[in-house]
Formats: sequence, structure tokens, C-alpha cells
Amino acid sequence: MAEPASLGEGKPEQAHHAVVPPASPSQTAPDDGVVVDADLLLAATSISKAFAGVPALVDGRIRLKRGSVHALCGGNGAGKSTFLNILMGLHRADAGTVMVKGRVVHYASAAEALADGIAIITQELSPVLDMTVAENIYLGREPRRMGWFADKAKMEADATALFARLGFDIDARATMRSLSVAKIQLVEIAKAISRESDILIMDEPTSAIGEKEAATLFKAIRSLQDQGVGIIYVSHRLTDIFSIADSYTVFRDGRFIEAGDLADIDRQRLISLIVGRDLRDQEARKSTSTGEPMLSVSGFGRHGQFEDISLDLAKGEILGLYGLMGAGRSEFANASSPRIARRRAWS
Ligand SMILES: Nc1ncnc2c1ncn2[C@@H]1O[C@H](COP(=O)(O)OP(=O)(O)O)[C@@H](O)[C@H]1O
Ligand SMILES: [Mg+2]
Repeated sequence: MAEPASLGEGKPEQAHHAVVPPASPSQTAPDDGVVVDADLLLAATSISKAFAGVPALVDGRIRLKRGSVHALCGGNGAGKSTFLNILMGLHRADAGTVMVKGRVVHYASAAEALADGIAIITQELSPVLDMTVAENIYLGREPRRMGWFADKAKMEADATALFARLGFDIDARATMRSLSVAKIQLVEIAKAISRESDILIMDEPTSAIGEKEAATLFKAIRSLQDQGVGIIYVSHRLTDIFSIADSYTVFRDGRFIEAGDLADIDRQRLISLIVGRDLRDQEARKSTSTGEPMLSVSGFGRHGQFEDISLDLAKGEILGLYGLMGAGRSEFANASSPRIARRRAWS
């Protein structure tokens, strides 16, 4: 079903979605008498926020349905995080309305949003490295024995069962410190899922994980989707968006641009919505390389950081260095800085 795909201001919000009778007494019509869609988990309209007088978000909107994976797309600085922080009660909006499961809400803290069934996996991970995986998952809400002692055995058993259900290959008794960045990210994801929220917000969940873990994550997302959880998914990877999400909202410069079903658009169109212009003409970009060698590295390594790196860089060339978080890119770049490179790697 296509959502209104309007540019800029668009049409009035309620005009297009199906009118379904409220499923429960809590889903009463808001004051203006508009009938609420029972499948609509979250609806935010006209959200704005300025920091010290500088607008970060001018017109933030989203409509999230039960059982949907909704991609929130936009370039850096588009206002996505500001918007998500407002949905989570971490920031207070200057204006606009957030409706969760049919009720207008004004969360004053993330704890209030959590209590209302909204969990977020932020991009900035905050693991307690000296605790075990199970302790991290149940931090602040540990099951107690005799009303006092944290029940370690129960936490471990629950975490192990959770990982088995999600298909994550992680030892609940391991310390966080012993895990790879990818596994730490999966623990954060499991932690958010363990709260059994109706709404799950994922901000770049695959930024630090590899293809294999991403496939596991997508399987877990699909099973949450089957249970009726609504997911807001933020990612820069278009391939991820098209393989896991069913619908999208695009922000640009703090404004809502368009929303709809991904089945109705292709990558090229989504990119042009995100950047605000057609990128086709850029595909034929000419190489700026002069061919004159600047840096040549072969079999370069540094113990425990990276190994066997070989590459050539010519004058005027722009060389992309790709890898996941923790892959050693920064270490390599630092070690290859001109002073070191001249000494070790000039051919
Ligand atoms: N705490 C803050 N203080 C001041 N400016 C902020 C703050 N958070 C975000 N901004 C600004 O708001 C704009 C939107 O940023 P953000 O919401 O982080 O975008 P995105 O997540 O889409 O990259 C940017 O111009 C950013 O610099
Ligand atoms: Mg952001």
C-alpha cells in the first residue's frame, strides 16, 4: 500500500491511511475527532528543534506501522538523530506532536519512552567492559534472589536463551572486553530486543558488523516483524535498506521530504531524494590522477593492528580505504602518514 509520496509540505497527514476502528479502549480518537489507525504504532508530525537558536529539525515526520521495518533515510546532518532523540525523550521538541499507539505523548526521559515500549539502539555503544555479556544485558533491571542478590545464574540462562532465539553466537558468560566490536554491537541489539518493546529504533546497526552478522541480524529483525514489532531503521547502506525495510521516510536539511513503500522506488530515486538532485551526471566523473606515484606500500604491517597491506597512490588520485570498524584503517593511515611512509614505504 502506497503512503502519500508528497514533496515538501505535502497534504494533511490523516487523509490517506485506512480508517480502522480502535482496537482497544486506549486507542481513542484524539481531540480533533480523527479516527486512529489501530496498526499505527507511532505518528510524529511537524517536529521542530533548534539548538541555541540554530534549527536542526524543521519539519520532522514519520508514520510507523505494526510489523513494518521503516527506513529513515537522509545524509549527514539531515536531522535523523535529533528526531530519534525526540521520539526517545532524550530531547524535547520545540513544536510538533508525537503519537504512540494512539496517545499523544511528551516523554521527559528515555526511561519513560522505554516504559511505553520504545527501545533504541544508538550508534554510540556503551558497554561496561568488565562485566559479563549477561550482566550488560540486564544492567539496571537484574532479576533478584531473595529480593536482594542479583541472580547471576538466571541472567545467564535468560541471555543464553535470548541468543539462541536470535541465532546470535555469543557466550553469555564472556566478559564484554573479550568480544569483537561486531559482537558488542549484537549484544546491544539483543539488549534492546530483550525489552520486548513494540517499537525498536536502530541507528546504523550494521555499521560495525560484517556480512555474516548482518544476515543473522536481519533474520532476527524479520522474526520481530512477524511478532508485530515496528522498527525504525537508519542506515547508510542502501543494500541493507532494500533488503530489510518495507517502507521509507526521507529527511533532508531537517525537513521531511517524502515517505512511501520501497517497492515503489529504486535506489537511484532514493539517492536523489536524499541528496536533493540527480546523481547520474556524476557517474562519468573523470579521474584526477596524474599517474605520478606518491606512495607505494607493499606487504606493510604493524603487529596486532594490520598486516600485509599493499597499495599504490598516485598524485591527484583519491583512493578509498574501505573496512569495518576495528579493521585497522585508522592504524594503517596513521602508520602511512608521510613521515613514516617516506622512511618505510617509498619505493
Ligand atoms: N546537541 C546539538 N547541539 C547543536 N547542534 C546539534 C546538536 N545535535 C545535532 N545538531 C545539529 O543538528 C543538525 C542535524 O543533526 P543530526 O540530527 O545529528 O543529523 P543526522 O543524524 O541526520 O546526521 C546538524 O546540523 C547538527 O550539527
Ligand atoms: Mg545521526
